[in-house]
Amino acid sequence: MPEYSTSPSGEQFCLPDKDDYAAEYKRLQELVAVARQDGKEVVVVMGLGFVGAVMAAIIADTVDKHNGHSTKFVIGCQRPSTRSYWKTPLLNSGHSPVKSEDPEVEPMIARCVLEKKTLTATYNPECLALADCVVVDVQCDYSKQDLGMMKTGETEMAALEATLKTMGERIQPQCLVLIETTVAPGTTEFVALPILRKAFRARGIQSEPLLAHSFERVMPGREYVKSIRDFWRVCSGCNAEAKRRVVNFLNEVINVEQFPLTVMDRPIESETTKIVENSYRATILAFLNEWSIFSERNGVDLTKVVKAIKMRPTHSNIIFPGPGIGGYCLPKDGGLGYWAYSHLLGFEDGDSVFKISTVAIDVNDTRALHVAELTRDALRNMGRYIAGARVLLAGASYREDVGDTRYSGSELVVRKLTEMGAEMSVHDPYVDHWYELENQDSYPAPGHSWSKFFRNQQDLSGIRVQKDLASALRGAEALVLAVRHAPYLHLKPDDIVRWVGGPVALVDCFGILQDDEIRRYFELGCEVKALGRGHIQRIKEEVRSPKETSEPETALRI
Ligand SMILES: NC(=O)c1ccc[n+]([C@@H]2O[C@H](COP(=O)([O-])OP(=O)(O)OC[C@H]3O[C@@H](n4cnc5c(N)ncnc54)[C@H](O)[C@@H]3O)[C@@H](O)[C@H]2O)c1
Repeated sequence: MPEYSTSPSGEQFCLPDKDDYAAEYKRLQELVAVARQDGKEVVVVMGLGFVGAVMAAIIADTVDKHNGHSTKFVIGCQRPSTRSYWKTPLLNSGHSPVKSEDPEVEPMIARCVLEKKTLTATYNPECLALADCVVVDVQCDYSKQDLGMMKTGETEMAALEATLKTMGERIQPQCLVLIETTVAPGTTEFVALPILRKAFRARGIQSEPLLAHSFERVMPGREYVKSIRDFWRVCSGCNAEAKRRVVNFLNEVINVEQFPLTVMDRPIESETTKIVENSYRATILAFLNEWSIFSERNGVDLTKVVKAIKMRPTHSNIIFPGPGIGGYCLPKDGGLGYWAYSHLLGFEDGDSVFKISTVAIDVNDTRALHVAELTRDALRNMGRYIAGARVLLAGASYREDVGDTRYSGSELVVRKLTEMGAEMSVHDPYVDHWYELENQDSYPAPGHSWSKFFRNQQDLSGIRVQKDLASALRGAEALVLAVRHAPYLHLKPDDIVRWVGGPVALVDCFGILQDDEIRRYFELGCEVKALGRGHIQRIKEEVRSPKETSEPETALRI
């Protein structure tokens, strides 16, 4: 029985048969022979995911700064699993396997595959033997066992370790291996190097593998390509030659003239830079959670507090946290550091050393649960119960104006409210499919869905993201505004109430509503609650108190 891999748009691709591998390798050998005749360097990118697919295209787009000729031929290597194989034929037809809001991604991939012919994709890892340089962009996840207890989780390095073993068995001795994957500090020197060395020795190769590390800082959104190519990089190598080679490579493919490279002494320093910068960001977000609760209970609008503090140049990066942090990196990277301290580096006192970074992740991972409490309370104030209530969540992605739903706080909001008996529906202008819900048995991987932390989640696989807000709102009892997507910033209260067909309970998770809008919602008979915005009670009292208002409360008649 042939096996198929289905792309997000529903296109099916038959997985390669074992007899296909020889012909595929011959295809690659021929392409490489032509590339070498042109004087191009051959680069294999392992893993065509969010990072690898775009990085492969950026490398393939590299030209000699003097004569404008392409200098690299890139082979993107993607394992042929039923889940991921589709990325290979899709890229080979000139299309991006990752959906991005950045208008540069699709044309760059089309240009490199179809016009310049500097990029191809394969499922055959034998391509590694043809490489002058291998860039590793496979995943290294941190899997959490309990909600809000990051410390009980563990690093999942199996895919990375398997990739390294495959590489050690095939690469040429002088091939540069560049690990871009965000790894637990120590991985390059204490996991990857020994794996490559052992494989080299088994092949009778006496020279040291040339191994380097340089992490990605890619950001989803309209500047996806720029966040890889035109951004500051940090790198290091396991020995002087590896360091020299990685610096040369990044000098060619990244815009280091405008975004200078930082070269560290050792890979563990480059690895630690990534973990610390993301732990720092996770921590400054988490720390505001307690002030958010404080604000809700004491009549303070935290969004205005944050704005006032930002006026100080020294505090300009303070940010109001939404209903959770999300994205692929911030929820996990501190975990990689905590785990490495004990499991790779052998220290037993991790629990007394790591206090802030670990708690920050736990706070961020559970902030969304409070949104469910606010929704329950807003409904209660309208004489409604959460059980059986029709609740529309507006915004599934983890940050504004992108369609990226990985580890979004919105997912926890939906799951918790579902557990409490709400009838959930979802709107998002940027998200076509919410795979964390639709494919919750297998996405992000079997056994990894956050559904395991809640009861009664099975029906969520039937949720489809709606695009028309007016029709999505019809008959809703509560509206949770979860993300600061541009189309949500200027919604008119009168429209919302008209679309719903009556007063609705609103929950603002991200400082989306302006004070005059909040006032109007109360005038229309709605209830409003928000993360970190205690002044809402004051507005409500002003509207509802006859002494404060000259006009009688506007009753809603629809
Ligand atoms: N996505 C981001 O926003 C982001 C930002 C900064 C850093 N990073 C880091 O970059 C790394 C990659 O992340 P991603 O988002 O691209 O992951 P991803 O899961 O989207 O992609 C990884 C790809 O590697 C493939 N793969 C796994 N093993 C393979 C093998 N042996 N051979 C060939 N392919 C293989 C997988 O099938 C998958 O397609 C991670 O360490 C991540 O932390 C990601």
